[in-house]
Amino acid sequence: MFNNTNSIDIFHKISIAPMMDCTDKHFRMLMRQISSEALLYTEMIVAQSLVFSNQKAKFLDFNEEEHPIAIQFGGDDPQLFKEVAKMAKDWGYDEINLNVGCPSPRVSAGNFGASLMNSPYKTAKCIEALKNHSNLPVTVKHRIGVDNNDSFFNLNQFVRTLDLAGADRFTVHARKAILKGLNPKDNRSIPPLRYDIVTQLKEVNPNLTIEINGGFTNIEQCTNALKKFDGVMIGRSAYKHPLRWSLIDEKFYGKEKKIIKASSIILDLIPYIEKHIEKYGSSWEICKHLINLVESIPMAKKWRNKITSKSIKKELKIDDLSCSAKELKNLGF
Ligand SMILES: Cc1cc2nc3c(=O)[nH]c(=O)nc-3n(C[C@H](O)[C@H](O)[C@H](O)COP(=O)(O)O)c2cc1C
Repeated sequence: MFNNTNSIDIFHKISIAPMMDCTDKHFRMLMRQISSEALLYTEMIVAQSLVFSNQKAKFLDFNEEEHPIAIQFGGDDPQLFKEVAKMAKDWGYDEINLNVGCPSPRVSAGNFGASLMNSPYKTAKCIEALKNHSNLPVTVKHRIGVDNNDSFFNLNQFVRTLDLAGADRFTVHARKAILKGLNPKDNRSIPPLRYDIVTQLKEVNPNLTIEINGGFTNIEQCTNALKKFDGVMIGRSAYKHPLRWSLIDEKFYGKEKKIIKASSIILDLIPYIEKHIEKYGSSWEICKHLINLVESIPMAKKWRNKITSKSIKKELKIDDLSCSAKELKNLGF
């Protein structure tokens, strides 16, 4: 059995997906300039790596501005999950998410990620451990099936088993994972999107909080999906086209319309980037995320090349960046 979570907030209409090598704290700071409301996720953190690391802060640190923020864990050992659940709580995260969708060979070899869909009871033990030792909302991100384990019956049983274990929200990537024969990238495009299956799952479990994920590329699609589902998770499109999502707060959270431009985001982040440069002598960790802000701007290529080459060589001064942002502003971007 699990402890009740007090005053949890599990209703996030829009979230920005966990993505390894993309959704680090710097990208999340950028995304926060675009939406103050969307739930942000960390990249997957393997529980075992965190427990045995002597650099825990490297995994766990985030900025206050990033709230609401969910930490995503990978693993399959309830004992380790007890420890990381306490850390997530102590560090101030708002939610813990369990990764049951990753198809990478390394993750499958460890019997976690998507392969956990083959072991509902073991997954339930993981959920219980995370809940009982954090008192945070514990959510699951999973697929609609894995390999030949792809019947609706099994999906439904899986979700109901985790519901009984205390899972607070189900984020369903509307594709199955094919563990043998497809690499992680192909596993995000080759298995077809089956929104119909996620729809059926919500229809037969109206009381469960179900968020849909996979293939959402604009606000209108999200508006339509929210007629059926409790939330929509956006992955690649948010990373590659961040400004496309500047209406999230207005459209889904009833906030006042705000004009968000590439220049205003960069200018707002200047103090943050300046502090980072002072501490680490480098800006690339942040600038690599900024370059997607200038898509479809006439001088985008030139701008990207300048920032990239200077930043990689550790030659980018904060004044250079600030001037470049002002140039964008003068051009109306
Ligand atoms: C580069 C990359 C890294 C990803 N890393 C993770 C991860 O760490 N954890 C996870 O649950 N999903 C991960 N995903 C999957 C996404 O969260 C999401 O489920 C998938 O991209 C489908 O959504 P989309 O079509 O909106 O991109 C990753 C996806 C990409 C493109």
